[in-house]
Amino acid sequence: MRAVVARSPGGREVLALADVPDLVAGEGEVLIDVVAAGVNRADISQREGRYPPPPGASELIGLECSGRIAALGAGVDGFGVGDEVCALLPSGGYASQVTVAAGLVLPKPDGVSLVDAAGLPETVCTVWSNVFMLAGLQQGETLLVHGGASGIGTTAIQLARALGARVAATVGSDWKAERCRELGADPAINYQASDFVAELLSATSGHGADVILDVVGAAYLSRNLEAVATNGRLVVIGLQKGATAELNLGALMAKRAAVLATGLRMRPLAEKAAIVASVRENVWPLVAEGHLKPIVDRVLPLAEAAEAHRVIEASEHVGKVLLSV
Ligand SMILES: NC(=O)c1ccc[n+]([C@@H]2O[C@H](COP(=O)([O-])OP(=O)(O)OC[C@H]3O[C@@H](n4cnc5c(N)ncnc54)[C@H](OP(=O)(O)O)[C@@H]3O)[C@@H](O)[C@H]2O)c1
Repeated sequence: MRAVVARSPGGREVLALADVPDLVAGEGEVLIDVVAAGVNRADISQREGRYPPPPGASELIGLECSGRIAALGAGVDGFGVGDEVCALLPSGGYASQVTVAAGLVLPKPDGVSLVDAAGLPETVCTVWSNVFMLAGLQQGETLLVHGGASGIGTTAIQLARALGARVAATVGSDWKAERCRELGADPAINYQASDFVAELLSATSGHGADVILDVVGAAYLSRNLEAVATNGRLVVIGLQKGATAELNLGALMAKRAAVLATGLRMRPLAEKAAIVASVRENVWPLVAEGHLKPIVDRVLPLAEAAEAHRVIEASEHVGKVLLSV
């Protein structure tokens, strides 16, 4: 099969299309003929050698894909050869075929093209598991999502709005703020031009955010504590601006708030399968009804994976960048 390999840890130039050995579905797995693969910021860390795949997983980059089932391993129920699906992957998506545990596979939702479906599993599973399953965002509450124009952010805005929450978002430019407003964010705050804490508190009459989904990390920890509401939940899922910061426990106590942090890829298979099952039950109907769409910035051929990484590194995109196979 064909795949994008990273010849060594490094810059975009290490990525190259190559022939690699064919795959066989093991027990409990399906083999998928990949139609498209989602590109995620974590892929850049893996390319650079800073985010290795879990033990036993493919060394190839790629956390999600869509395609058609080509073969079923022993003991797989509920899917058939030829089914159009998308899947959450521990790695291996930048390839013409993948094998994946059947519990991480979802049917292609109605109303979404098979290519665009590649942009759903990683962001939807991350947002659903953190904002709803973990932080328990309720109808009428306010969610603050940092990086509102990212793959994660565009998903969080739509999903929280669909379920009756108010959403505030931060972005680094006015044009991205406009795109977030179109998706339902209010306010969408350009963090380069104004203070996001002041803007959020002003927009919520001093209440703040009941849930914060943070992709920035250390640099925002103290500001997030100022922005979080009493009884609020701060969920850190990205460390783009550092992993280590001082936490004022007095401020946390005064607000009776919680600080949570999770990573999806390293969770045990059973936990990821439970998230995928919950997404299928709770989120897939919203996709089918048009309340949540994959926001696809561009689709590039698999051979242009390096260009896809350039776009993400430059943060030129809104939503997802996909690779067509
Ligand atoms: N823990 C997990 O399980 C998990 C799973 C999936 C993703 N993630 C993380 O979630 C983040 C988003 O992933 P993605 O693939 O959707 O990436 P992406 O599309 O590349 O988005 C990254 C975003 O971060 C924003 N950003 C950078 N600095 C910021 C700042 N100071 N304030 C606010 N926003 C800032 C950028 O927005 P501007 O261009 O507007 O500045 C950009 O939109 C990444 O950090 C990724 O590692 C974590």
